[in-house]
Amino acid sequence: MRMRACTGLTAIAVAAQVLGLFSDPDVANAASADSGRALYLKVGCYQCHGTQGQGGNTGPRIAPDPMPFETLAAFVRTSSRQMPPYRVKVLSDGDLADIYAYLQSIPKPPDVKSLPLLNDQ
Ligand code: HEC
Repeated sequence: MRMRACTGLTAIAVAAQVLGLFSDPDVANAASADSGRALYLKVGCYQCHGTQGQGGNTGPRIAPDPMPFETLAAFVRTSSRQMPPYRVKVLSDGDLADIYAYLQSIPKPPDVKSLPLLNDQ
């Protein structure tokens, strides 16, 4: 389930959760979309979810507008269905925060109404 309303408030709540999740504030503050992208490719998320999280044959769409960090982290750590779990040993909290920063940085597609070609008639 995703909550799309009140994105401003959600962003603040997510930020608070991210900060609260890490005892070392430097880890959360250092979250970087650039290194997140590199990690996303390195640990193989892209193989199932596509290079931009758009989804593929094997994995569902996870970006743009990713689920709250807490939900995503819980899923990634404990997944027991088709997706392999990524435990802290193979993917640190800091690395997962970077991956999340990358997913958050992926731009949303333009509104269909803003595309003249689709609204000519
Ligand atoms: C081997 C393929 C595979 C890889 C690699 C993989 N995933 Fe997944 N992922 C899936 C599948 C399939 C699902 C759908 C749920 C299920 O069946 O496990 C999923 C579900 C998810 C979901 C929940 C989506 C939703 O809307 O419920 C998230 C978030 C996610 N993956 C993130 C990641 C991240 C981050 C990585 C890399 C650290 C990753 N996945 C690597 C296959 C993969």
